[in-house]
Amino acid sequence: MELLLDDMELLYKENILEHYKSPRNFGRIKNPTTHHREFNPLCGDEIELFLVIKGNKIADVKFHGQGCAISRASVSMLTEKIKGKSIEELKKITKEDLFEMIGVKLSAVRIKCALLGWDTMRNSISIFERYVNKEDKEEKEENNNITNNNDSNNNNKGQLDELLEDVDEGEFVENDNRIK
Ligand code: FES
Repeated sequence: MELLLDDMELLYKENILEHYKSPRNFGRIKNPTTHHREFNPLCGDEIELFLVIKGNKIADVKFHGQGCAISRASVSMLTEKIKGKSIEELKKITKEDLFEMIGVKLSAVRIKCALLGWDTMRNSISIFERYVNKEDKEEKEENNNITNNNDSNNNNKGQLDELLEDVDEGEFVENDNRIK
């Protein structure tokens, strides 16, 4: 049976209501990789987003905060969509993708509500890339430098040990023209 446009709209509305009443991934995460909060200036409602990022992928996500049915349902749908995805994939989720998920026509005011979670996600990623990931990279580079220095110190130490052995065995003096 073919669904009429009104039926589709009804299904989308039911889906919104269902996400509003039983939001997915609702709660807080202790020690997340990023934790960011955004608010809707038109009403003052807030969304907090907690992301655990492992190997550049969203290992876990939770949201918290107050909001209307549209803002709460859209962030709930978004958290379902982004779990397990890479940062690059998250960056490709557009406003249009979000509106498609919501599925009903929104007024200008409601568009702001729908985008609250999406804005929070975008800003969380940008904070992650600008600060958290940068710090991780710098720390790794620093550790690599320490390891490389240790390797080169070990090499030097190895060469020195060999030279000392040669000197002990008298080979160094015999093989060095300057000393002869
Ligand atoms: Fe506040 Fe929708 S009315 S987020």
